[in-house]
Amino acid sequence: MSQIQTSTILIVDDKPLNCQTLAALLHGQGYQLAFALNGFEALTQAAMLMPDLILLDVMMPGMSGFEVCQHLRANPLLAEVPIILITSLDDQKSRLEGLEAGADDFIPKPFNIIELQARVRTITRLNRYRSLREERQKLIQAYEETLTGWARALELKDNETMGHSQRVTELTVELGRIMKISEDELVHIRRGALLHDIGKMGVPDYILRKTSALNDAERVIIEQHPTYAYQMLSPIEYLHPALDIPYCHHEHWDGQGYPRGLKHEQIPLAARIFAVVDVWDALSVDRPYRTAWSTEKIISYIQSLAGTQFDPQVVVAFLEALPRLDKTLGLLYE
Ligand SMILES: [Fe+2]
Repeated sequence: MSQIQTSTILIVDDKPLNCQTLAALLHGQGYQLAFALNGFEALTQAAMLMPDLILLDVMMPGMSGFEVCQHLRANPLLAEVPIILITSLDDQKSRLEGLEAGADDFIPKPFNIIELQARVRTITRLNRYRSLREERQKLIQAYEETLTGWARALELKDNETMGHSQRVTELTVELGRIMKISEDELVHIRRGALLHDIGKMGVPDYILRKTSALNDAERVIIEQHPTYAYQMLSPIEYLHPALDIPYCHHEHWDGQGYPRGLKHEQIPLAARIFAVVDVWDALSVDRPYRTAWSTEKIISYIQSLAGTQFDPQVVVAFLEALPRLDKTLGLLYE
């Protein structure tokens, strides 16, 4: 009901009495009503108000309802606004002309009150629903773009290769899909993979950019980055289900990882999958201090860590999936 109450209806008719009649019929239904007495005024009002529905008279001096319709449909911002033509013309030709001009529906004069109210109610409700869905879609897209921005910001700060976050994200999601993880779950895994090292934002640049071996004190600091990620992301409600990878991607199957020394299935599956993919990617690209390893060398290295650093079943799944990941790998590393 609250959605209907916020719907705005623009009534366009050159005769003030007709506007008043329509207003009286729609009174008390929870709409906000606006009025225009000619076509030009209608176009201005529509652009200003972005109404949920336009009730448009056809026979108006200057610009007819058909012309108003065509102008509205040509305006990208108003092209989708529902338009009901109000007309005493009920012949086939006029109806066709109205449809060609872009009208959605017709209401003949004289009005049937019940029919008018029902049609207006239906069309405003549908339009509200569509608008809400579009808003929700835009919001989700804005969330995802923000996360990508954070990942890019980290790549600028970190000594990591450009594109690492994007590649490990695509591979983790693809492997997860092959391992039959649900699409709902994969949404969170994608976010977590993208933000896996976001905790490095809290690590001083001189440590991140150091090319020689880290000393013990520096190692202690860098090993804080999963905890920093937890602190950074956990107050953000929609990222709660995405925390597994940023918080647990350095845990080892044998319990020798950090920050909490989790072991076996204590480590969330998403983080166990990601850990293998992360090492695969790191060794697959050239670094300032070494060239990329061959596929065979990476495979035997990953196999050698099954049961210590990596979940052995995930290693098996990853190696089995490699031929199927071929296309993704080709695109990512071309
Ligand atoms: Fe990390």
